Amino acid sequence: MHNISQYQDFFITYLKNQNIQKEPKNLYEPIEYILGLGGKRMRPVLTLMAAEIFNTSYETALPAAMAVEVFHNFSLVHDDIMDDAPLRRGKETVHEKWDLNTGILSGDAMLILAYQYFEQYESEVFRDLAKLFSKTALEVCEGQQWDVDFEKRNDVTIPDYLKMIEYKTAVLVAAAMKMGAIVAKTSKEESDLIYDFGLNLGLAFQLQDDYLDAFGDPETFGKQVGGDIIENKKTFLYLKALEFSNSDKSVQLQNLFNLKLEDNTAKIETAKAIFNESGASKATQEAIEMYTFRAFETLEKMNLDAEKKTTLRTFGENLMGRRV
Ligand code: IPE
Ligand code: IPE
Ligand code: MG
Ligand code: MG
Ligand code: MG
Repeated sequence: MHNISQYQDFFITYLKNQNIQKEPKNLYEPIEYILGLGGKRMRPVLTLMAAEIFNTSYETALPAAMAVEVFHNFSLVHDDIMDDAPLRRGKETVHEKWDLNTGILSGDAMLILAYQYFEQYESEVFRDLAKLFSKTALEVCEGQQWDVDFEKRNDVTIPDYLKMIEYKTAVLVAAAMKMGAIVAKTSKEESDLIYDFGLNLGLAFQLQDDYLDAFGDPETFGKQVGGDIIENKKTFLYLKALEFSNSDKSVQLQNLFNLKLEDNTAKIETAKAIFNESGASKATQEAIEMYTFRAFETLEKMNLDAEKKTTLRTFGENLMGRRV
């Protein structure tokens, strides 16, 4: 096994050796741009890690890790269009730097590029990877549609929200790990357990993403702080704040989240104050811990030596403490 920063380095070296830049420039430059902007590289690291957990070298898993990261970046390009987001990883989003059509088509091309990386595997592994990937990618689309639908709905429940984040985010984290297991040709039992571990980690991860969207440090967060409030996203923070507030405050919050404004400064401040005063912020932190611990429980069911479990645990603990 290697440590997390080593897996990041292995992946980045592999990424840099890919020759993506071709003609026409306006199709491929945005792809290089977004993939080169960095990010945490969490999903490919998980793929490489999972392969080694199941006794296969990380090198074997590099193309699958690349497929996952290219897909993730594709989803971000389109997500930033859908969320009207100006910033990604501290830089202009693709549709801002170029334009909407460029974001759409470069995103489409990335989805196809992602699939092409599976061609490097022999037929059985190829089939299993492609099957999992197709299922996951469709679920991500479903989750993304719910996310957007919820902006205009006032009857979203916590279970609705949890299903939505499972689909838009957690299934890809889970699939990233299962791909490592597929490449390693491990047993169905073990690959299902690692999927489950990733799924719970992914739920914690999206809850934390929502928390940071409101309370992250604008200097380091890399995205527009308050973006979810501007877009009326029905996050865990929002839903818990409604649940915990008296009816006056609830009505105030609901009204706030039916507005589309030019200047959002006051809206963001008011929403954040209600999130804090109502106890919603605290409840979100607790939910992040709860799903992370659920992931750790799955780990205990796995037949792995102590060092491997520690590596996975450390990964989960680091995620809980993240600020970007
Ligand atoms: C952002 O993912 C999109 C979500 C699912 C929350 P990351 O936070 O992993 O983004 P990068 O790749 O590190 O920038
Ligand atoms: C993103 O959710 C999920 C996908 C990209 C599929 P968000 O919209 O919360 O992600 P960020 O906050 O823009 O990274
Ligand atoms: Mg977004
Ligand atoms: Mg979104
Ligand atoms: Mg977000």
